[in-house]
Amino acid sequence: MSAAVAVTDEGAVRIVRIDRPEKKNALTAPMYDALASALVSARTQGSIRCVLIAGRPGCFCAGNDLDDFRKAADSGEGLGEPAIRFLHALAACDRPVVAAVNGIAVGIGTTMLLHCDYVVAAREARFSTPFVNLGLVPEAASSLLMPRLMGQRRAFALLVMGEPLDAHGAVTAGLVNTVVDGADVEARALDAAQRIARLPPEAVLAARRLMRGSAEETVARIDEEADYFRERLQSPEAQAAFAAFFARKK
Ligand code: COA
Repeated sequence: MSAAVAVTDEGAVRIVRIDRPEKKNALTAPMYDALASALVSARTQGSIRCVLIAGRPGCFCAGNDLDDFRKAADSGEGLGEPAIRFLHALAACDRPVVAAVNGIAVGIGTTMLLHCDYVVAAREARFSTPFVNLGLVPEAASSLLMPRLMGQRRAFALLVMGEPLDAHGAVTAGLVNTVVDGADVEARALDAAQRIARLPPEAVLAARRLMRGSAEETVARIDEEADYFRERLQSPEAQAAFAAFFARKK
């Protein structure tokens, strides 16, 4: 387990906490590995009936570590195997996934929510996907799932124009179920996860499978986006954006 991802089982609920607050919960390769493993092993553990993904107060996740992106660009790599493994595990996860979003959700911090079944957000939560601003393209099958969820125009504003959503906008767009005070986010998300875990488990899995359909199309889009992403990482547009981010405090 990565030190920056904590996995604990509370009864039938697996709580997966992204825990790197000093970097606003930006995700590194070992963190993706830990997230993927937590999801994959939930599948084989009959006692786990629901997964809850949480962050830290004020930051759910600031997206992929931009320093890792910069290194990947230098070495000609793409999103990286651990990130792809996590996205595949998320798309193929057969347990319901609940998210507790307290604070910022940037990049994959927002796009991972498209795979979740129930999302609780704090009033102060902010959702953004600045891929194009960074010279990149959407990932996590968001180019497929986001227009489906909220329609082409709203998805374009978020995914391409980089316009953020506040908590209210995220509810309107269908990304979030409910908005509560920051102090209550985790308790409310845990309550939802426990309610799901108390339902007849086989019926939950069957109903969810019917609602989501096959993961094949989603996984194929994750892979297609990853091909574009690798190309974009090497682009002068992306390199300039990474350099600007790390130069901003100097
Ligand atoms: N990758 C690497 N480091 C990151 C990061 C990321 N995605 N997001 C934040 N950090 C680091 C900062 O570099 C800073 O580190 P430092 O203290 O060593 O300088 C630390 O986390 C705190 O971030 P800071 O920018 O000072 O906090 P803030 O509250 O002013 O702003 C954000 C928070 C999330 C709005 C801002 O950090 C940001 O825009 N991050 C980049 C988000 C992003 O573009 N993600 C990729 C999407 S594809």
